[in-house]
Amino acid sequence: MNPQATAPRYARITGTGGYLPPQRLSNDDMVAMLAARGIETSDAWIVERTGIRARHFADAGVTSSELALHAARQALAAAGRSAEDVDLIIVATSTPDMVFPSTACILQHKLGANGCAAFDLQAVCAGFVYALTVADSMVRAGTAQCALIVGAEVFSHLLDFNDRSTCVLFGDGAGAVVVEASGEPGILAADLHADGRHAGILCTPGTVCGGQVLGDPLLRMDGQAVFKLAVGVLDSAARAVLDKAGRSEADLDWLIPHQANIRIMASTARKLKLAPEKLVVTVDEHGNTSAASVPLALDAAVRSGRVQRGDTVLLEGVGGGFTWGAVLLDF
Ligand code: UT7
Repeated sequence: MNPQATAPRYARITGTGGYLPPQRLSNDDMVAMLAARGIETSDAWIVERTGIRARHFADAGVTSSELALHAARQALAAAGRSAEDVDLIIVATSTPDMVFPSTACILQHKLGANGCAAFDLQAVCAGFVYALTVADSMVRAGTAQCALIVGAEVFSHLLDFNDRSTCVLFGDGAGAVVVEASGEPGILAADLHADGRHAGILCTPGTVCGGQVLGDPLLRMDGQAVFKLAVGVLDSAARAVLDKAGRSEADLDWLIPHQANIRIMASTARKLKLAPEKLVVTVDEHGNTSAASVPLALDAAVRSGRVQRGDTVLLEGVGGGFTWGAVLLDF
């Protein structure tokens, strides 16, 4: 019997990358921008309620695929791979370049990876953990060998700068990972959920019809409703994924949750009895970058030398849909 045929096949992250557009806006920059519209906010309110101190905005006309390209090139370089090695691209985004084709196809062409499978995945701020789970399944099934998974967003293009309760929260960016087939784990377990009853609490409800935008094309959020749901589901997803992998809270080296609000993140860490230094935080400098937030935070933690090979890492996403999920992995 061919030993290869029965050898376990896992999916592992072999490289990470991240990119933020150069324009950085501090909270004081936002205070000045909103003051010009007669709207009051303050650095103190934003820091106390969210932990955010700055965010990056792409210029008008800069697309998700452009941000994704920088992050993807970095991840490929870190993995020691070139675009020709990639046989699957998944882009998690809610701010695609076009209605169609997918941002993944546009990225594929920019990378020069023509020919491989490429598609977008839309699960808003849970998009990256959804995409990583799909890639894990496809790699373990033998459908892909070397997958490029990107979270890329230009949420600044959806913001209503007359709504202080949302426009100070979000930023733009892209994060990427290369996932390859391996004899060693790897991604250990995943747990994904959605509850469409809550579609209205975080949405951009407009659509395109007959050559016009129909409905409201800007981001709308009931922050308190999202907050309450997020705190509950992040805890249950963390426990579910640990159970599935036969691991416990004590096995965790790092928690990398969606970077939306430091209060939600710290509450998740506390419930898991994790020391605060095991929580990776980038929301202070990035704001909420939706599907890009988890891979950007992972990349920052890898590049700063905190997340090391072999560390056990819990990734968690939560957002519009309502969607949420967790992925547990040995890095
Ligand atoms: O990415 C998907 C996941 N998203 C999230 O996880 C977001 C979850 N939600 C949150 O993070 C929080 O609910 C927010 C940060 C959005 C809001 O924080 P909050 O503590 O829930 O504040 P609030 O909505 O209860 O508002 C408190 C007060 C209100 O004033 P009154 O009614 O008490 O007088 C708001 O009008 O804060 C006011 N406020 C602001 N004040 C200064 C709202 N936005 C601002 C602002 N600056 N930017």
